[in-house]
Amino acid sequence: MNAIQATQRKPAGTAGAAAFPWSPESWRSREAHQAPVYDDAVALASAEARLRRYPPLVFAGEARKLKATLANVAAGKAFLLQGGDCAESFADFTANTIRDTFRVLLQMAVVLTYGAGVPVVKVGRMAGQFAKPRSSATETIDGVELPSYRGDNVNGYEFTPEARRPDPERMVQAYNQSAATLNLLRAFAQGGYADLHEVHRWNLDFVKNSPASARYEDLARRLDETLTFMAACGLSSATTPQIAETDFFTSHEALLLPFEQALTRVDSTTGDWYDCSAHMLWIGDRTRQPEAAHVEFMRGVRNPLGFKAGPTLKTDDLLRLLDTLAPTNEPGRITIIARMGAGRVGDHLPALIRAVQREGRSVVWSCDPMHGNTVKAASGLKTRHFDAILQEVKEFFAIHQAEGTHPGGVHFEMTGQEVTECVGGAVDITDAGLVDRYDTLCDPRLNASQVIELAFLIAEQLKAERLAGNGSAAGK
Ligand code: PEP
Ligand code: CO
Repeated sequence: MNAIQATQRKPAGTAGAAAFPWSPESWRSREAHQAPVYDDAVALASAEARLRRYPPLVFAGEARKLKATLANVAAGKAFLLQGGDCAESFADFTANTIRDTFRVLLQMAVVLTYGAGVPVVKVGRMAGQFAKPRSSATETIDGVELPSYRGDNVNGYEFTPEARRPDPERMVQAYNQSAATLNLLRAFAQGGYADLHEVHRWNLDFVKNSPASARYEDLARRLDETLTFMAACGLSSATTPQIAETDFFTSHEALLLPFEQALTRVDSTTGDWYDCSAHMLWIGDRTRQPEAAHVEFMRGVRNPLGFKAGPTLKTDDLLRLLDTLAPTNEPGRITIIARMGAGRVGDHLPALIRAVQREGRSVVWSCDPMHGNTVKAASGLKTRHFDAILQEVKEFFAIHQAEGTHPGGVHFEMTGQEVTECVGGAVDITDAGLVDRYDTLCDPRLNASQVIELAFLIAEQLKAERLAGNGSAAGK
């Protein structure tokens, strides 16, 4: 870096880190955007105290394992698949919902792995994805103004003063639901459900009539043949854990800092701090101000981290975030989740990629094609067009191809349920059809047939990238 760049870019992160020692509560002296206002300090302190005593949800060693795996993604040798609900809910908490989202993620991973020949790292937006940033602190309906809904771990969705009042006990309920969800996910991942021989069973009944399903069944048949061949060579579920089970990690937006702080523990094997509420945490597009509370909190925990990069992120701030969050440039530590909107990736992403390359930074580049493509349908419902989602993914791949860097992953809001929230796709959901099963509490999600269709289209892009030999050099 030359002297002009050095003076232009204040090394706030490292200087800040030296000047202000980090602690799990050091974020409290910074401005916390999107924070709920609790009116009962005693109840809040009581909930936090209980959470601090509860067992961690994940182990530090698992977070380290994910970080090492993401380092492979940063090096161009693997692909990150991150997906799940926009917001998990207390009401929609059943084994079926968890299983269906998990199995669609497995289907997508198999399509990507088998279709493109690239290992896939699976990370759910699950087991803790409750807190939501909102564009306005209050919502007004028919002249009545109430606090906005901020996710089930903060307040209730119903438009009544009682429901909308932030209640700290909800953090305890979110903890319990996350623990139960993780328990089932671990059982599915390691207990036989994720065995590659089960690949046909992952295809949900209601998806079976879609064109993506026919393609999936064809792929599953070929995978079966491959497994038979491998068994003949001595590689079976009994001999090869990679066939019998899978690694599945959890993630959520680290938005509700009292909760995150309470789950932050010192790892006894390394002496380092980890946020044990999930393997990976990310900072949202509205809370990534380099000097504010969320960045301050996240810089001190050693988990793999992400942050959203929307169209307003300037290269200067991006580099300050990297200085602050990843001062040692540890591979796998940072995932930059770009969410620019279809038609706008070319305006913003190249400058960010070039700055990262110029500074020799190791990052995973992931594409969230959801949050820049939210529109209002004629009915007034929030929706996203399948074609816009696909277009943003394609633009993301094309730009990485042009820059010689690795398009490292995708980040979807999706569900295994047969919802009608995003329009388009091969089973064409129309504006009028949105009302049929519009169940989301927050943003519109892709349903199972739509994401499987997308997985095939992404596999084609990824295969082309692999065949072109792009992005596998170190630092990419
Ligand atoms: C989200 O991922 O649900 C979200 C709110 O995204 P963003 O911070 O990118 O707006
Ligand atoms: Co969302």
